[in-house]
Amino acid sequence: MLGATGTIGQATARALIERGHEVVCFVRRRAGVGGALNPDDTARLLEGAALRFGDVIDPTSLARDGFRGDRFDALVSCLASRTGASKDAWAIDHRAHLHALEAAREAGITQFVLLSAICVQKPLLAFQQAKLAFENALIGSGLTYSIVRPTAFFKSLSGQVDRVRRGKPFLIFGDGLITACKPIGDNDLARYLVDCLDDASRHKRVLPIGGPGDAITPRQQGEHLFHLLGRKPRFKHVPVRLLDTIVWGLGALSRFAPPLAEKAELGRIGRYYATESMLVMDPETGRYDAAATPSTGTETLFDFYARLIAGEVSIERGDHAVF
Ligand SMILES: NC(=O)c1ccc[n+]([C@@H]2O[C@H](COP(=O)([O-])OP(=O)(O)OC[C@H]3O[C@@H](n4cnc5c(N)ncnc54)[C@H](OP(=O)(O)O)[C@@H]3O)[C@@H](O)[C@H]2O)c1
Repeated sequence: MLGATGTIGQATARALIERGHEVVCFVRRRAGVGGALNPDDTARLLEGAALRFGDVIDPTSLARDGFRGDRFDALVSCLASRTGASKDAWAIDHRAHLHALEAAREAGITQFVLLSAICVQKPLLAFQQAKLAFENALIGSGLTYSIVRPTAFFKSLSGQVDRVRRGKPFLIFGDGLITACKPIGDNDLARYLVDCLDDASRHKRVLPIGGPGDAITPRQQGEHLFHLLGRKPRFKHVPVRLLDTIVWGLGALSRFAPPLAEKAELGRIGRYYATESMLVMDPETGRYDAAATPSTGTETLFDFYARLIAGEVSIERGDHAVF
């Protein structure tokens, strides 16, 4: 398995182990957000899996330290750039995956389950193009693939819980109704990924997937949070134009100050999520369609908010944090 130390990777490793699979995870010596995990921490986190350490970017390390000439049945990858910045995305989401695909073939692997993202259906950002380029390589590889494109994760929709708790308003772009999504829980997604191994109807397929229930807008997320906290809803409206100005400004400045290019790309990522729904898009009309977005699992975002407020769970939002 690749990417086992990430949010979905951890849940997927657990789900694989629960199903009785023998799991080998290829990880780096310093893993987690900001390299916070040492090998002992990682071993505790991924108890029940065998760990192999090395550098996923280096094809020699992948073969020597990862596959080691052993035979495996399948490769499951939840590997992804932690920042989404262009250079990192091409290095990880694309190149490292290409090397892994090659090494997997040499190890006799015939099946590949890839965690991707629903937003690659409208690839305007560098990380989406990098993911899509690898998806296409995998589809053309002849392996039995399942490309899973989930909607939005709970951690990405929980960034405002703390600020609202501290008495601040909930920030929404425009009227808070520009976008909608069907959020999916980590464990529900992990089970869906693991089921791809044995469910032939998910083989050689690109699989968009959301969580249970109706699609929800940012405004509904805020309303529900205030309801759970027993407070009157209070919103602060941020005009999308403001994001446009920031993105344009950073883009212009980065021509003279290249280090700003990464910030400009992060701005573009922010703008994308402020204006695009995480639902299946009709390619003909370009419209997002909640009814056409499949659902899996049982946990809703609102269940998760309740558990977060009760202190039963916490989130590690990592390098994507916006709020
Ligand atoms: N957030 C959302 O709402 C959302 C929605 C749909 C789809 N997705 C997609 O889901 C995927 C996974 O998300 P996630 O939140 O589980 O990711 P994550 O928590 O950021 O984990 C990323 C994983 O990739 C590994 N990785 C990254 N850079 C690496 C490097 N240079 N060398 C070795 N390993 C590296 C990380 O290892 P370390 O621990 O060593 O860093 C970690 O195991 C992403 O492709 C994302 O686009 C996200």
